[in-house]
Amino acid sequence: MDGRTARAVKQQLESLADAGVIAVPKAGRMVAAAAATPQHPAAARGGDRDAARSLAILRQEVADCTRCVELAGTRTQTVFGSGPADARLCFVGEAPGADEDAAGEPFVGRAGQLLTKIIEACTLKREEVYILNVLKCRPPGNRTPLPDEVANCRGFFERQLAAIAPEFICCLGTTAAQTLLQTTEPIGVLRRRWFTFGSARVICTYHPSYLLRTPAAKRDVWEDMQMLMREMCLGG
Ligand code: URA
Repeated sequence: MDGRTARAVKQQLESLADAGVIAVPKAGRMVAAAAATPQHPAAARGGDRDAARSLAILRQEVADCTRCVELAGTRTQTVFGSGPADARLCFVGEAPGADEDAAGEPFVGRAGQLLTKIIEACTLKREEVYILNVLKCRPPGNRTPLPDEVANCRGFFERQLAAIAPEFICCLGTTAAQTLLQTTEPIGVLRRRWFTFGSARVICTYHPSYLLRTPAAKRDVWEDMQMLMREMCLGG
Protein backbone atom coordinates (compact mmCIF):
# COMPACT_ATOMS: atom_id res chain seq x y z
CA MET A 1 0.00 0.00 0.00
CA ASP A 2 1.50 3.41 -0.93
CA GLY A 3 1.63 6.35 1.50
CA ARG A 4 -1.36 8.17 -0.02
CA THR A 5 -3.57 5.07 0.14
CA ALA A 6 -2.43 4.35 3.71
CA ARG A 7 -3.38 7.90 4.76
CA ALA A 8 -6.77 7.64 3.00
CA VAL A 9 -7.43 4.35 4.84
CA LYS A 10 -6.32 5.94 8.15
CA GLN A 11 -8.68 8.89 7.59
CA GLN A 12 -11.54 6.53 6.73
CA LEU A 13 -10.89 4.49 9.89
CA GLU A 14 -10.78 7.70 11.98
CA SER A 15 -14.15 8.71 10.49
CA LEU A 16 -15.54 5.33 11.45
CA ALA A 17 -14.06 5.64 14.94
CA ASP A 18 -15.68 9.09 15.26
CA ALA A 19 -18.97 7.41 14.42
CA GLY A 20 -18.43 4.79 17.11
CA VAL A 21 -17.40 1.86 14.93
CA ILE A 22 -15.08 -0.15 17.13
CA ALA A 23 -14.46 -3.23 15.01
CA VAL A 24 -14.10 -3.90 11.33
CA PRO A 25 -14.27 -7.55 10.31
CA LYS A 26 -11.55 -8.90 7.99
CA ALA A 27 -14.19 -9.46 5.32
CA GLY A 28 -17.91 -8.98 4.98
CA ARG A 29 -20.15 -6.54 6.77
CA MET A 30 -18.97 -3.51 8.77
CA VAL A 31 -20.01 -3.69 12.41
CA ALA A 32 -21.38 -0.45 13.83
CA ALA A 33 -21.09 -1.58 17.40
CA ALA A 34 -21.15 1.70 19.30
CA ALA A 35 -24.87 1.58 20.01
CA ALA A 36 -24.55 -1.67 21.89
CA THR A 37 -21.06 -1.41 23.35
CA PRO A 38 -20.74 0.49 26.62
CA GLN A 39 -16.90 0.44 26.49
CA HIS A 40 -16.91 3.07 23.77
CA PRO A 41 -17.39 6.53 25.32
CA ALA A 42 -19.81 7.58 22.58
CA ALA A 43 -21.93 4.52 23.16
CA ALA A 44 -22.98 5.52 26.65
CA ARG A 45 -24.67 8.75 25.61
CA GLY A 46 -27.26 9.03 22.81
CA GLY A 47 -26.67 12.71 21.99
CA ASP A 48 -22.96 12.13 21.71
CA ARG A 49 -23.55 9.46 19.12
CA ASP A 50 -25.30 12.04 16.94
CA ALA A 51 -22.38 14.42 17.45
CA ALA A 52 -19.90 11.65 16.66
CA ARG A 53 -21.82 10.74 13.51
CA SER A 54 -21.92 14.38 12.36
CA LEU A 55 -18.18 14.67 12.99
CA ALA A 56 -17.48 11.48 11.05
CA ILE A 57 -19.40 12.78 8.02
CA LEU A 58 -17.70 16.16 8.28
CA ARG A 59 -14.24 14.59 8.64
CA GLN A 60 -14.73 12.78 5.33
CA GLU A 61 -16.01 15.97 3.63
CA VAL A 62 -12.90 17.78 4.86
CA ALA A 63 -10.65 14.97 3.61
CA ASP A 64 -12.24 15.25 0.15
CA CYS A 65 -12.14 19.07 0.01
CA THR A 66 -10.16 20.72 -2.81
CA ARG A 67 -11.66 24.23 -2.52
CA CYS A 68 -8.29 25.86 -1.82
CA VAL A 69 -6.36 24.68 -4.87
CA GLU A 70 -2.92 25.57 -3.47
CA LEU A 71 -3.51 23.93 -0.08
CA ALA A 72 -5.12 20.82 -1.54
CA GLY A 73 -2.15 20.48 -3.89
CA THR A 74 0.52 20.80 -1.21
CA ARG A 75 -0.98 19.07 1.86
CA THR A 76 0.05 15.58 2.88
CA GLN A 77 -3.41 15.13 4.40
CA THR A 78 -6.12 17.17 6.03
CA VAL A 79 -6.01 17.70 9.80
CA PHE A 80 -9.58 17.53 11.06
CA GLY A 81 -9.37 17.69 14.85
CA SER A 82 -9.09 15.39 17.83
CA GLY A 83 -10.93 14.79 21.05
CA PRO A 84 -14.23 13.55 22.41
CA ALA A 85 -17.40 14.57 20.59
CA ASP A 86 -18.91 15.61 23.93
CA ALA A 87 -15.98 17.77 25.11
CA ARG A 88 -16.88 20.65 27.45
CA LEU A 89 -13.93 22.63 26.16
CA CYS A 90 -12.56 23.17 22.65
CA PHE A 91 -9.22 24.74 21.84
CA VAL A 92 -9.13 26.39 18.41
CA GLY A 93 -5.81 27.07 16.70
CA GLU A 94 -4.85 28.56 13.36
CA ALA A 95 -3.74 25.87 10.91
CA PRO A 96 -1.67 22.68 10.81
CA GLY A 97 2.10 23.04 10.63
CA ALA A 98 4.60 20.57 9.18
CA ASP A 99 4.32 18.11 12.09
CA GLU A 100 0.54 18.15 12.03
CA ASP A 101 0.44 17.79 8.22
CA ALA A 102 2.64 14.70 8.58
CA ALA A 103 0.71 13.19 11.51
CA GLY A 104 -2.86 14.14 10.55
CA GLU A 105 -3.41 15.39 14.15
CA PRO A 106 -3.61 18.96 15.42
CA PHE A 107 -0.99 20.41 17.76
CA VAL A 108 1.53 17.57 17.85
CA GLY A 109 4.71 19.64 17.30
CA ARG A 110 6.53 21.88 19.79
CA ALA A 111 3.57 24.26 20.10
CA GLY A 112 1.36 21.23 20.64
CA GLN A 113 3.56 19.92 23.45
CA LEU A 114 3.25 23.31 25.12
CA LEU A 115 -0.51 23.26 24.60
CA THR A 116 -0.63 19.86 26.32
CA LYS A 117 1.20 21.36 29.31
CA ILE A 118 -1.25 24.28 29.39
CA ILE A 119 -4.20 21.87 29.33
CA GLU A 120 -2.65 19.81 32.15
CA ALA A 121 -1.98 22.96 34.16
CA CYS A 122 -5.74 23.51 33.96
CA THR A 123 -6.12 20.11 35.70
CA LEU A 124 -7.48 18.58 32.49
CA LYS A 125 -6.15 15.76 30.33
CA ARG A 126 -5.49 16.39 26.66
CA GLU A 127 -7.86 13.51 25.83
CA GLU A 128 -10.69 15.33 27.64
CA VAL A 129 -10.67 18.40 25.39
CA TYR A 130 -11.34 18.79 21.67
CA ILE A 131 -8.61 20.44 19.61
CA LEU A 132 -9.18 21.85 16.15
CA ASN A 133 -7.88 24.51 13.80
CA VAL A 134 -9.57 27.15 11.70
CA LEU A 135 -7.85 25.72 8.59
CA LYS A 136 -7.77 22.00 7.98
CA CYS A 137 -4.80 22.11 5.57
CA ARG A 138 -1.25 23.30 6.11
CA PRO A 139 -0.49 26.63 4.43
CA PRO A 140 2.84 26.25 2.57
CA GLY A 141 5.76 27.49 4.67
CA ASN A 142 3.35 27.94 7.60
CA ARG A 143 2.23 31.31 6.22
CA THR A 144 -0.79 33.00 7.79
CA PRO A 145 -4.05 31.73 6.29
CA LEU A 146 -5.45 33.92 3.51
CA PRO A 147 -8.95 35.40 3.93
CA ASP A 148 -10.30 33.20 1.08
CA GLU A 149 -8.90 30.08 2.77
CA VAL A 150 -10.54 31.02 6.06
CA ALA A 151 -13.82 31.65 4.22
CA ASN A 152 -13.56 28.24 2.51
CA CYS A 153 -13.03 26.50 5.86
CA ARG A 154 -15.59 28.50 7.85
CA GLY A 155 -18.45 26.11 7.12
CA PHE A 156 -16.33 23.19 8.31
CA PHE A 157 -15.22 24.55 11.69
CA GLU A 158 -18.66 26.08 12.34
CA ARG A 159 -20.33 22.70 11.76
CA GLN A 160 -17.62 20.99 13.81
CA LEU A 161 -18.24 23.30 16.76
CA ALA A 162 -22.02 23.02 16.33
CA ALA A 163 -21.75 19.20 16.49
CA ILE A 164 -19.60 19.25 19.63
CA ALA A 165 -21.60 22.09 21.23
CA PRO A 166 -18.92 22.76 23.86
CA GLU A 167 -19.66 24.92 26.89
CA PHE A 168 -16.34 26.72 26.46
CA ILE A 169 -14.06 27.61 23.56
CA CYS A 170 -10.52 28.88 23.98
CA CYS A 171 -9.18 30.67 20.89
CA LEU A 172 -5.41 30.34 20.56
CA GLY A 173 -3.95 33.41 18.90
CA THR A 174 -5.04 36.11 16.52
CA THR A 175 -6.35 34.03 13.60
CA ALA A 176 -8.62 31.85 15.74
CA ALA A 177 -9.86 34.76 17.86
CA GLN A 178 -10.51 37.15 14.98
CA THR A 179 -12.07 34.46 12.80
CA LEU A 180 -14.47 33.10 15.42
CA LEU A 181 -15.43 36.48 16.78
CA GLN A 182 -15.49 38.14 13.32
CA THR A 183 -13.46 41.08 14.51
CA THR A 184 -10.19 42.79 13.60
CA GLU A 185 -9.32 43.67 17.19
CA PRO A 186 -5.84 42.49 18.22
CA ILE A 187 -5.40 39.49 20.49
CA GLY A 188 -4.03 41.71 23.28
CA VAL A 189 -7.41 43.47 23.38
CA LEU A 190 -9.48 40.29 23.02
CA ARG A 191 -7.95 38.40 25.94
CA ARG A 192 -9.23 38.75 29.53
CA ARG A 193 -12.83 39.10 28.23
CA TRP A 194 -15.71 36.70 27.70
CA PHE A 195 -17.49 36.39 24.35
CA THR A 196 -20.06 33.97 22.97
CA PHE A 197 -20.05 31.71 19.91
CA GLY A 198 -23.35 29.87 19.50
CA SER A 199 -24.08 28.54 22.96
CA ALA A 200 -20.39 28.48 23.98
CA ARG A 201 -18.57 31.00 26.13
CA VAL A 202 -15.36 32.07 24.43
CA ILE A 203 -12.05 33.16 25.89
CA CYS A 204 -8.99 34.18 23.84
CA THR A 205 -5.34 33.84 24.68
CA TYR A 206 -1.95 33.88 23.02
CA HIS A 207 -0.98 31.08 20.64
CA PRO A 208 1.50 28.51 22.05
CA SER A 209 3.85 29.26 19.09
CA TYR A 210 3.98 32.87 20.28
CA LEU A 211 4.81 31.62 23.78
CA LEU A 212 7.73 29.64 22.37
CA ARG A 213 9.11 32.90 20.94
CA THR A 214 8.03 35.07 23.89
CA PRO A 215 8.21 33.05 27.13
CA ALA A 216 7.38 36.16 29.20
CA ALA A 217 3.82 35.98 27.82
CA LYS A 218 3.26 32.65 29.64
CA ARG A 219 2.24 34.65 32.69
CA ASP A 220 -0.60 36.26 30.66
CA VAL A 221 -1.75 32.90 29.33
CA TRP A 222 -1.81 31.48 32.84
CA GLU A 223 -4.01 34.41 33.91
CA ASP A 224 -6.38 33.63 31.02
CA MET A 225 -6.41 29.94 31.95
CA GLN A 226 -7.21 30.76 35.56
CA MET A 227 -10.16 32.85 34.35
CA LEU A 228 -11.29 29.86 32.29
CA MET A 229 -10.80 27.41 35.16
CA ARG A 230 -12.88 29.57 37.50
CA GLU A 231 -15.82 29.55 35.08
CA MET A 232 -15.43 25.81 34.45
CA CYS A 233 -15.18 25.17 38.22
CA LEU A 234 -11.87 23.34 37.71
CA GLY A 235 -8.94 22.93 40.05
CA GLY A 236 -10.81 22.50 43.30
N1 URA B 1 -0.38 25.69 15.25
C1 URA B 1 -1.72 25.68 15.07
O1 URA B 1 -2.37 26.70 15.07
N2 URA B 1 -2.30 24.49 14.94
C2 URA B 1 -1.65 23.35 14.97
O2 URA B 1 -2.28 22.30 14.83
C3 URA B 1 -0.26 23.40 15.17
C4 URA B 1 0.36 24.57 15.30
